[in-house]
Amino acid sequence: MPCISAEKFLFWKKKQLSKGGELQSFAVLLDCIGGIKTSDLNSLNINPVENLYIKKNLDYLESIWEDHLTNSSPIQYLCGISFWRDLKLRVNNKVLIPRPETELIVDIVSKIFIDTSQKLLFAELGTGSGAISIALALAHPMWDGIATDIDQDALEIAIKNFKNISKQSNLKFCCGNWWTPIESFKGKLDLVISNPPYIPKDTYEKLPKEVKNFEPKIALLGGEDGLKHIREIIQKAPLFLKEKGWIILENHFDQGEKVKKLLIKNKFKSVKIVKDLSGIGRFTIGRYK
Ligand SMILES: C[S@@+](CC[C@H](N)C(=O)[O-])C[C@H]1O[C@@H](n2cnc3c(N)ncnc32)[C@H](O)[C@@H]1O
Repeated sequence: MPCISAEKFLFWKKKQLSKGGELQSFAVLLDCIGGIKTSDLNSLNINPVENLYIKKNLDYLESIWEDHLTNSSPIQYLCGISFWRDLKLRVNNKVLIPRPETELIVDIVSKIFIDTSQKLLFAELGTGSGAISIALALAHPMWDGIATDIDQDALEIAIKNFKNISKQSNLKFCCGNWWTPIESFKGKLDLVISNPPYIPKDTYEKLPKEVKNFEPKIALLGGEDGLKHIREIIQKAPLFLKEKGWIILENHFDQGEKVKKLLIKNKFKSVKIVKDLSGIGRFTIGRYK
């Protein structure tokens, strides 16, 4: 493990940050590749020790930082790690980098299902890195969950994440198009969650390059108006949910009213748009009959 003086390290860190980029991304690089946690850095600033141990040498860390700055490569893909809620998830370019706004889905679920001792069956359609399903399975060991994705490579990442994070066995993984892999669960689900691809085609073409050039198109593009997948999920949801079962969908910032109408048209009650922390109607929820 390379060892350098704290003084040299702090000088190097300042130089890297002067090239651009966000402190938070730099912290991810130092933690995941360098093995230096933000808490170590804070104490270093207050009380500089003589030497510092890092997992990789500074030239290597610098080459990753340069790649991030020059090519707009997401730091999470370069490091293979994304922090989401209290989870440290493996990611690669087969899965969407789980977004901070999506974290709220787990809180919405907790507000709906207050009695945590109650057994329950949930499905997440389009699990990607597995973030939502893993967080739910960990928070509710009494619950059983099924996480699906059309992309087998994405599903492999989700499975690895679950195995790395937990010894629990209350989450299963199935590959296939939306409801297809869970045909046998018709009428049995208490809850279905999905953060499907919802970006309209025109918007997709104009996405920033750090998203469009790196993140999987299949995880982002929602057809011409962005609602292609949301429509398919909602139309079949009544076949799979139990009576009074809930659906929770993430949608694009301006799709809430349209998703609400789709849910009402498909006989959902208690339909509500839930705002994210920036006040955007990011989620639409409803209860089947
Ligand atoms: C927006 S990403 C969400 C990933 C993850 N749930 C999250 O919140 O970070 C959408 C996911 O849906 C999957 N997906 C796209 N089309 C699908 C389909 N037809 N059936 C099942 N999953 C699909 C993608 O592979 C991707 O992992």
